[in-house]
Amino acid sequence: MVWMPFQMLVGCSSPAPVERGGRRSPHPVGRWPVREDAPIGGGHVPVLLDAVLEALDTAPERRLLDGTFGGGGHTRALLDRGHHVLAIDCDPDAEARAAALQTAYGARFRFRAGNFTDLAELVGDERFDGILFDFGLSSFHYDTAERGFSFRHDGPLDMRLDPRRGRTAAEFLANASHGELAQAIRIFGEEPQWRRIVEAILETRESVPLRRTVDLTRLVEGVVSRRPGPPLKIHPATRTFQGIRIAVNEELQVIEAVLPQAFAALRPGGRLAAISFHSLEDRLVKRFFRRMAGQPEHDRDARPQQERVCQARVLTRRPIEATDAEVFANPRSRSAKLRVLEKPYATQTENHDPSHPPSRF
Ligand SMILES: C[S@@+](CC[C@H](N)C(=O)[O-])C[C@H]1O[C@@H](n2cnc3c(N)ncnc32)[C@H](O)[C@@H]1O
Repeated sequence: MVWMPFQMLVGCSSPAPVERGGRRSPHPVGRWPVREDAPIGGGHVPVLLDAVLEALDTAPERRLLDGTFGGGGHTRALLDRGHHVLAIDCDPDAEARAAALQTAYGARFRFRAGNFTDLAELVGDERFDGILFDFGLSSFHYDTAERGFSFRHDGPLDMRLDPRRGRTAAEFLANASHGELAQAIRIFGEEPQWRRIVEAILETRESVPLRRTVDLTRLVEGVVSRRPGPPLKIHPATRTFQGIRIAVNEELQVIEAVLPQAFAALRPGGRLAAISFHSLEDRLVKRFFRRMAGQPEHDRDARPQQERVCQARVLTRRPIEATDAEVFANPRSRSAKLRVLEKPYATQTENHDPSHPPSRF
């Protein structure tokens, strides 16, 4: 079979830290950095948009699936290029934003409310030329105090992407075992001082329930010591909030569950593009892509080459990252990594030949 090289030219650079301030804070003003990943000017700005378009805008009138509609930034750009988009989001607030696109683009745009972990059920027999995932939160989540995602705004400790289902962050914090809290804050949050935060949560909840974002923010501020050296670039509660949010929404499990379903929903020649913001998300995507391409999934994957089946082509040997200019304009893009996989036109029976590594951008 002939692999078509994917000619995407996007500058990759180390993301530069960007400091922002001036936002309402539930804690004493000026004590801690208050950066959260909202873009300058508010609203949600789609990350790595040029790269996503180059991955998915490959021919006129493509049938595309946006599995994480959010503010509809990527979807709108794809609709503006004449494509047909079916979009999914589990957040009820996204439904109202989708309704506005419906009016503007008519039948070329459709929306289904649901969790992408049920993708096969949500799309049925429909097949796509391209599928996009832009995992995680949109800026709307951080900006809406009632959703409980932000340490910048006081609100109920909710953090559910779909507030109609599952346990809230407050319920998680009230009931989670030491091991579950450690997994959330240490593994998902990558918080070096996780031990002290977990102990403080367990001790505090004996007498006072953690119900509001300000309760959790103050608890973390109280136990996280300032290290000597340069001032912190992020608020000390950033990682704790991230880890608890990932646990509450089972974000890693749903990514693992959706990737094979998305691949199955691709037409031959179709492309799967996934944007991750967390190293654990990116690892899941990378390993799935490598498995589909018949490559070792990780350094310790010692299966013999003849046991691997090549069903796809990885188009991004290394993930695409935001340029310094994009990071400056949209701090949320700082940690974004885009990987793209292509399903071949015909079933490829031969195994991956390591002497012919995948093409790259
Ligand atoms: C980063 S935002 C997407 C932003 C979008 N690409 C844009 O340009 O506006 C991620 C969206 O995916 C949604 N989401 C996250 N996990 C989901 C899941 N498991 N099922 C459905 N939607 C999910 C969130 O509610 C959020 O709206």
